[in-house]
Amino acid sequence: MSADKKLFIKTYGCQMNVYDSERMAEVLGGKGYTQTDTPDDADMILLNTCHIREKAAEKIYSELGRFKGLKAANPDLKIGVAGCVAQAEGEEIIKRQPMVDLVVGPQSYHRLPAMDDAIQTGAKALDIDFPEDDKFETLKKRKKGKRAPTAFLTVQEGCDKFCAFCVVPYTRGAEVSRPSDRVINEARELVESGVREITLLGQNVNAYNGHEGGLAGLIWALDKIDGLDRIRFTTSHPNDMDDVLIEAHGTCDKLMPYLHLPVQSGSDRILQAMNRKHTAEEYVRLIERIRDARPDLLLSGDFIVGFPGETDQDFEDTMELIRTVNYGQAYSFKYSTRPGTPAAEKPQLPEDVMSERLQALQALLKSQQIAAQDSMVGRTVKVLFEKKGREDGQLIGKSEYLHAIYADAPEDALGDIRDVYVAEAGPNSLAGRLVA
Ligand code: SAH
Ligand code: SF4
Ligand code: F3S
Repeated sequence: MSADKKLFIKTYGCQMNVYDSERMAEVLGGKGYTQTDTPDDADMILLNTCHIREKAAEKIYSELGRFKGLKAANPDLKIGVAGCVAQAEGEEIIKRQPMVDLVVGPQSYHRLPAMDDAIQTGAKALDIDFPEDDKFETLKKRKKGKRAPTAFLTVQEGCDKFCAFCVVPYTRGAEVSRPSDRVINEARELVESGVREITLLGQNVNAYNGHEGGLAGLIWALDKIDGLDRIRFTTSHPNDMDDVLIEAHGTCDKLMPYLHLPVQSGSDRILQAMNRKHTAEEYVRLIERIRDARPDLLLSGDFIVGFPGETDQDFEDTMELIRTVNYGQAYSFKYSTRPGTPAAEKPQLPEDVMSERLQALQALLKSQQIAAQDSMVGRTVKVLFEKKGREDGQLIGKSEYLHAIYADAPEDALGDIRDVYVAEAGPNSLAGRLVA
């Protein structure tokens, strides 16, 4: 084993990829790699990729092209592709870009050390299996040492929902929950190394079934960990929001008042064509119940415009749902045709129709977000300070509601939760001052 090799990882896509990149760095740490923040002096470059929309997937090939010069200058440089593009395209990646040495799907990261051995001999390595063994169990333990005050923790992977537009069930496989004792141990270790807020991750995190009482049961178990102050989870599916989880939003003090609950469309016709398995009204009623449990909840969502067959009326139904629900924050996308998904077979909408709708939808969501931000001015929130701001003496943290917030604060407040009076609101962040 040669020591002191440098590993550069670039991460695309969702938070689960962020978590996975960290775990891959640990696994390869066992092979003598330490992480570097530039590709220029790297011995291995790993792209942890996302396949969710065409643009995200295509970006990988232009990114790979940029490494040509580096590979020419250093023939020993190894280039790997991990994540959802690796899973979806497999061998095609090496065919299209022969300088790629290694392709590894999201369920095979524990096999990276052996794959590294193989590519060091000049061979190519490809692994896009869905092995039976739990990759998290065989992955090396997360390293001890001081960490940032917030961390992600994957508790569930994969998706059985098969929305008609989505690649995730194919790239991440079937829903699997990690046993709760492992999750709880990992959470304890994170807290021992300075973490105070944990975001539980899953493609359908509220389908978690590794603990009695599902995700709510797990949250209550984590609630008992001293030193863990905040719990969040993402992403949820409306159909998996069960009564105990809704109730926990009102009764579990550590569970933060922020919920990302995608609906995608407000038209029943489109929801059905998307295979979402609920109506717009069911979603609106669900939101009412969650808000009854936790009235100050900040709600976030995801929307797709221009799904095949979407009429002006269907789109107007989505706008109406947004007006009814009123989001604090949201993500919205033009429908992107994904190979292998059922919706890809259907006639697509013209690009200009999609663009126009997306613009109108984003304007509405933005006005709601600005109103929500403005409504925070004059209130006092609890901020977990995460890092230094750009200006001297300034720290950045997150409110309970996940607002980014800037405040003048001493450096020793990093990692602390402090009361902050909100003095100003911008569209994407708040500014405030410490309450003595
Ligand atoms: N599991 C989560 C979302 C995973 S993907 C859920 O069910 O909500 C994140 C978001 O990307 C989705 O919510 C959807 O809004 C968007 N998305 C997924 N596939 C897409 C596609 N083919 N085109 C455009 N947006 C898509
Ligand atoms: Fe994709 Fe639907 Fe599964 Fe979310 S629930 S990951 S959108 S298939
Ligand atoms: Fe992208 Fe895969 Fe996440 S497709 S959104 S990286 S699960």
